[in-house]
Amino acid sequence: MSQTEPVIRVEALRMRYGSTDVLGGVDFTVRLGEVVALLGPNGAGKTTTIEILEGFRMRSGGEVSVKGTDPARASEDWRAHIGIVLQSWRDHARWTPRRLLAHLGRFYEPYSEPSRTRPIDADELVSIVGLQDHADQKIRTLSGGERRRLDVAVGIVGRPEILFLDEPTAGFDPQARRDFHEMIRRLADHERTTILLTTHDLNEAERLADRILILTGGRIVAAGSADQLAALVTRETRVRWRQNGRPHAIHTRDAVGFLRELLEATTDEITDLDVRRSTLEDTYLALVRGHESGRGDEAVAAFEEVVS
Ligand SMILES: Nc1ncnc2c1ncn2[C@@H]1O[C@H](COP(=O)(O)OP(=O)(O)O)[C@@H](O)[C@H]1O
Ligand SMILES: [Mg+2]
Repeated sequence: MSQTEPVIRVEALRMRYGSTDVLGGVDFTVRLGEVVALLGPNGAGKTTTIEILEGFRMRSGGEVSVKGTDPARASEDWRAHIGIVLQSWRDHARWTPRRLLAHLGRFYEPYSEPSRTRPIDADELVSIVGLQDHADQKIRTLSGGERRRLDVAVGIVGRPEILFLDEPTAGFDPQARRDFHEMIRRLADHERTTILLTTHDLNEAERLADRILILTGGRIVAAGSADQLAALVTRETRVRWRQNGRPHAIHTRDAVGFLRELLEATTDEITDLDVRRSTLEDTYLALVRGHESGRGDEAVAAFEEVVS
């Protein structure tokens, strides 16, 4: 597989539960070694998408390929090269992290390669995820954040080439979140792991991902690096003011020109002038709100106009 060939390819992916279409034609690719964040509000279909890629759910339509294989028909061998961190994991309450990781690691021994030894040794693994002080403690006594680190350890014990993480930092405090972000960057940079993670936290997507995909209304409505998305949307500036006491607001790409005209054209009293550039967050929220109020296509069209 060449450096540039996508390791994950999704084309016209559709998913319908009963009579509800959750995914209405999702398209994206992920290249080798990329960290991609699938960002969207609750219920957007992030877990659905990622579980289809993991081979855990059968899709209603479209084409999906992960490491050259359709996950719906994947073998044990394929599974051994994929790491998975589910949104919630089953319990191993009476085990200790070290014992659980050593046990799960044995499954990967036959898949060891000279350039990629498998599994990661349990001692090394607990320190990679920052659990060295809790390695021999019963799992049921770990805190929420510590358990989530263990979930990640379970996901990477086989030194996967592709790692799927579904809302990995839900419930983390700020310090745990920062540690986690560093760990993910290390995996991507040092282990050449391709990572697809879901989050509903725009800041997390910005910090972690090489590329962000915004999923809402059953489609990917915007994609790009945080810088690309931000540079595109910050062309818009919001201007608010009061004119003879009445409030006004507009969005413009030329705030200076607009203000010059406004002030020249009127003798009204202008007060409470407020000029602010739109942020990536404003755009994200506008896209999501547009879909929730049934004006999704308008919001997407407006965004595409900005992007193109
Ligand atoms: N097994 C299922 N049966 C019926 N509806 C489902 C099922 N799984 C998810 N859904 C619905 O599909 C939508 C997307 O869910 P999900 O993929 O979990 O979204 P997200 O992870 O983005 O929050 C939600 O409205 C959810 O209620
Ligand atoms: Mg989810």
